[in-house]
Amino acid sequence: MDDRKIWFKGEIVPVADARINVLAPTSQFGLNVFEGLRCYSDADGSGQLSAFRLDEHLNRLLDSCKLIGLTCPYTKEQLRQYLRDTVAANSYHEDTSVRVTLFVDGEGSWSALGPVEMFIAPIRKARTNIAAPPQLRACISTWERINDNSLPPRVKAGANYINGRYAHLEAKRHGYDLPIFLGRTGKVAEGAGACLFMFRKGILATPAPTSSVLESITRDTIMRLGMELGLEVVEREIDRSELYLADELFLCGSAAEVTPIVSLDGIPVGFGKPGDATLKLLTRYLEVVSNAEPKYSHWLSPMY
Ligand SMILES: Cc1ncc(COP(=O)(O)O)c(C=O)c1O
Repeated sequence: MDDRKIWFKGEIVPVADARINVLAPTSQFGLNVFEGLRCYSDADGSGQLSAFRLDEHLNRLLDSCKLIGLTCPYTKEQLRQYLRDTVAANSYHEDTSVRVTLFVDGEGSWSALGPVEMFIAPIRKARTNIAAPPQLRACISTWERINDNSLPPRVKAGANYINGRYAHLEAKRHGYDLPIFLGRTGKVAEGAGACLFMFRKGILATPAPTSSVLESITRDTIMRLGMELGLEVVEREIDRSELYLADELFLCGSAAEVTPIVSLDGIPVGFGKPGDATLKLLTRYLEVVSNAEPKYSHWLSPMY
């Protein structure tokens, strides 16, 4: 029984009471944009819960609105307040994942501009266990990543995830945990719901924002933390064959955090287990998100 309370069209209601018209463009065509962000309990044990890089998530939500032709009816300050209200209504103090979705309601078509409505739905979600991180087996998808001239991947729109669905179901059918997409030009793009990093010959590399990827906030965090750890970090085109020769591969995202990939198409990545650079970055990431590092406390927005 899901007893969560969510913010829905201006009210905080039990999730079971939040109803959407079946004819709404969001139901019929996936006409929505959203953010998935995390709130982490602070390392000092105070019970404080802080949203990680909230400003960047809200900026991207507004960018997604702009590109898809929707007007967000709320200011960023209102969005921050509604998020705090929703977390407080659930009395969450432990790690939480939050979905903020702007959707087109009413009974219009896929070209409707409104009415734009919103829900904010938090759910408890523990952070990665550093002592037993996931070890994923990936494959290169036969499906191509959507691209900037069809469905721009930098827009975080619900409909974009159908591309991820095709690849994910194919990967599962073939016994893998997840797919990695190549883009239109045949270069490496990203995972179905996370960005990709390759550690090879001492360099941490990730595809550029123009390589059919979401402008991931975690990707930006990892690049900064990688540099701070003394790694050379580059954004560049990556060939498929480089991935097979990589010492380490991992996915990153608000949901994925830092997720090691231990094989690709059945070929072990490096020693076939999470590598040192990946584990160092995961450790550092978890310190930063839980406010254990004052240098990055400006990335944390307290919820209480
Ligand atoms: C397709 C895709 N790429 C990358 C990411 C990672 O983005 P972020 O780090 O901003 O959560 C996500 C997840 O949110 C995603 O869905």
